[in-house]
Amino acid sequence: MQNFVFQNSVKILFGKGQIAAIVAEIPASAKVLITCGGGSAEKNGTMDQVRAALKNHTFEIFRGIEPNPTYETLMKGVEVVRTQKIDFLLAVGGGSVIDGTKFIAAAAPFDGEPWDIVTKGLALTSAVSIGTVLTLPATGSEMNGGAVISRKSTQDKLAFRSPLVLPLFSVLDPTVTYSLPPRQISNGICDAFVHVMEQYLVSPSESALQDRFAESILQTLIEDGPKTLANPTDYEARASLMWCATMALNQLIGQGVGQDWSSHRIGHELTVLYGLDHGQTLAVVLPCVMQARREAKHAKLVQYAHRVWGLTEVNEEVLIDQAIDRTRAFFVSLGFPSKLEGYGVTCDIDKVVAQLDRHGLSALGERGEVTPSVVRQILAAA
Ligand code: NZQ
Ligand code: ZN
Repeated sequence: MQNFVFQNSVKILFGKGQIAAIVAEIPASAKVLITCGGGSAEKNGTMDQVRAALKNHTFEIFRGIEPNPTYETLMKGVEVVRTQKIDFLLAVGGGSVIDGTKFIAAAAPFDGEPWDIVTKGLALTSAVSIGTVLTLPATGSEMNGGAVISRKSTQDKLAFRSPLVLPLFSVLDPTVTYSLPPRQISNGICDAFVHVMEQYLVSPSESALQDRFAESILQTLIEDGPKTLANPTDYEARASLMWCATMALNQLIGQGVGQDWSSHRIGHELTVLYGLDHGQTLAVVLPCVMQARREAKHAKLVQYAHRVWGLTEVNEEVLIDQAIDRTRAFFVSLGFPSKLEGYGVTCDIDKVVAQLDRHGLSALGERGEVTPSVVRQILAAA
């Protein structure tokens, strides 16, 4: 196990009716800006609950943070924070609203061009306090210090992270997810699954405990993910999915082990170029990464086949084939086409490789072995 320092201070308020509890988490004197997306939180009643909880607070609402939140939209939020002297941001929505709110929180007090926070990885010295009410289990953003921001004008989708944008608290009420369309639930299951895989499918035996955490999250997603699709108001299944998605990317399972975010990095370029949902890119790319990297990841793929899928084939190459097939079939069962052409996309591989190069991401993987030629191989199979 590698050395690590682990701290995660986010207070989780989990379960039915917990939105009411935010009143005690936000200082009474705070000037609050509630941030949200395109209207789903109004439609499903989440915003009514938030307004009721904050009836004695001073707040305004910033609407319109879009999926794959953009710098262009978020800078309007920065302007509101600065001019209205906002001192607390409450994000009500999915990963995009939460990520966008993290950018607003970091950018508002930033002295300089805020896009540099994303492109230059500058260490922040201050940020506005954040709380969240999560409406879409997927990204883990509610319990981590990362955010992924897009810039339309330059076709960039890039991540930044800072402990200063960790939410102070996050409400996880599974009932607010009942209104999610099946496509977004599937995106969430796939995203959480791939978050685990990117921290699990690395050098073997680095941490027995992290491996078991990872395997249990994967197995729970495989068991409960389909239940959430079959019956959207199955509280236990939705609760299980919500907690899986949070645990998949709250840093716990990634401590002390290598990480390989190849599928995500390639996926972000596909979203920028072709407009695919984040989850859709991962459902196509991850099985291709597993195939292209099967030699380097042999031992871990064997462990994955045995422990996650319960496969017993003795020929290890056949076993790995089976494990990759099961992974792809799981995504297909959630409604994802297995190839880019299923989304009507003909991938311009040169363009994706050029984008990665422009973003300084030409050596992906645990040890930088996912070079442009490996990316080409992955995309040729996608
Ligand atoms: O905009 P509204 O009207 O709210 O509708 C949203 C949006 O259209 C809708 N939705 C959300 N909750 C709903 C709902 N519809 C009905 N009922 C509800 N309860 O769902 C649509 C998608 O929302 P979005 O927030 O974009 O989805 P998701 O949570 O999957 O977030 C994706 C974004 O997060 C980034 C992705 O790259 C992408 O930009 N990620 C963030 C990470 C992080 N911060 O750690 C890690 C991830 O790997 C990921 O990259
Ligand atoms: Zn993701």
